[in-house]
Amino acid sequence: MITLDLSQAKLAEDLSAYGEKVKEIHQMINEGTGLGNDFLGWLTLPSDHDKAEVELIKKTAAKLREEVDVLLVCGIGGSYLGARAAIDAVNGLYGSDKMEIIYVGNTFSSTYIKQVVEYVKDKEFAINVISKSGTTTETSISFRIFKELLENQKGKEIAKQRIVATTDKARGALKTLANNEEYVTFVIPDNVGGRFSVLTAVGLFPIAMAGIDIDAMLKGALDASQKYNDDNIETNDSYRYGVARQLLGKQGYPAEMFVTYELQLAMVAEWWKQLYGESEGKDGKGILPTSGTFSTDLHSLGQFVQDGSKVLFETVLQIDTPALNIEVPNDKDDLDCLNYLTGKTVDYVNKKAAEGTIDAHVNTGNVPNILINLEKMDAYGFGYMVYFFELSCAMSCYFLGVNPFNQPGVEVYKANMFKLLGKPGC
Ligand code: PA5
Repeated sequence: MITLDLSQAKLAEDLSAYGEKVKEIHQMINEGTGLGNDFLGWLTLPSDHDKAEVELIKKTAAKLREEVDVLLVCGIGGSYLGARAAIDAVNGLYGSDKMEIIYVGNTFSSTYIKQVVEYVKDKEFAINVISKSGTTTETSISFRIFKELLENQKGKEIAKQRIVATTDKARGALKTLANNEEYVTFVIPDNVGGRFSVLTAVGLFPIAMAGIDIDAMLKGALDASQKYNDDNIETNDSYRYGVARQLLGKQGYPAEMFVTYELQLAMVAEWWKQLYGESEGKDGKGILPTSGTFSTDLHSLGQFVQDGSKVLFETVLQIDTPALNIEVPNDKDDLDCLNYLTGKTVDYVNKKAAEGTIDAHVNTGNVPNILINLEKMDAYGFGYMVYFFELSCAMSCYFLGVNPFNQPGVEVYKANMFKLLGKPGC
């Protein structure tokens, strides 16, 4: 399902030199003896998830899909990026599914929030509010606004049927509210952090609402969890990727650009950036995760990558078989001189663009490229890819010597903001 090619990565060292270290980290991950070991629930989630909850997710989604046209997914960071990545990647940006998914609770932009209010106020909509802490300010403000809108539109009783809460199993303001209002409630497991939570109800409910097969997604993750339960650096591509990027960091590259060749994968890149950035960027260490969507960004960032300062390496994710394809048509006048491509598919052109770009960046620009191919970006492939990157991230962080599962730095801005807002201790 996934292949990794390090032949263009310009690694100065042989990965096999790290076989013993990889074995030790593999053991540390599996025995839960490393830093942050309270948050290893994602590791066994594909086999150990709550099967009854998955059934309830599917049932609730099927019922709400009959009643509403729009789902507002209200969450931020790890509480929405995975769902958004999956829905864009699998359904595409203008897919045929009837459910429109809109993301709120991820911003203080009053313009954005007010525009969504105007857009949905006369539509049939439901809300999935997602927050592990139940107190995240961006999410709480938006939820207040859209809950009030829904209650005013449909009355309190119907609104209750159209609000689904995904939160901690026992604690927090959202859990209390959900209990009081008797919302359908899904659980974010204690041992799964936000950025590792896409295969919990955090991701699965919105993904099911978008008409995507969550059983297939979980099956993809399960197959990946079996494939990569392997402590051998020679054969475990997930670990090979995690270690290779650290070796490139050591070789003097402070940044990694995650490149895709599909516009609908831009949110996969955002999810990947959070996964690696929040897991690794601490204690004054870490590779800056950045991203580009090619060939689009070759017309903007391409100059820098080819010719600018040598600060980055690229990790290129390509999809072998696109979900859809289309041919270049013939034109009798051929004024644009494109008839040499008549009958060729646009994906063929995309693949040639990628081949030419990798050659240009690696061999002329001297930019290391890690090449990752995913056979197909369907529900199964997405689940498989999620597990591949989550596991490689844990390996990569432990290899670097940081706790992959905490995020102490994100509290600093919040403390300042609350002080400036005069937040009472409530
Ligand atoms: O990964 C993380 O921990 C963060 O991105 C959180 O998911 C994000 O801040 C949202 O937190 P919460 O789910 O508590 O609202």
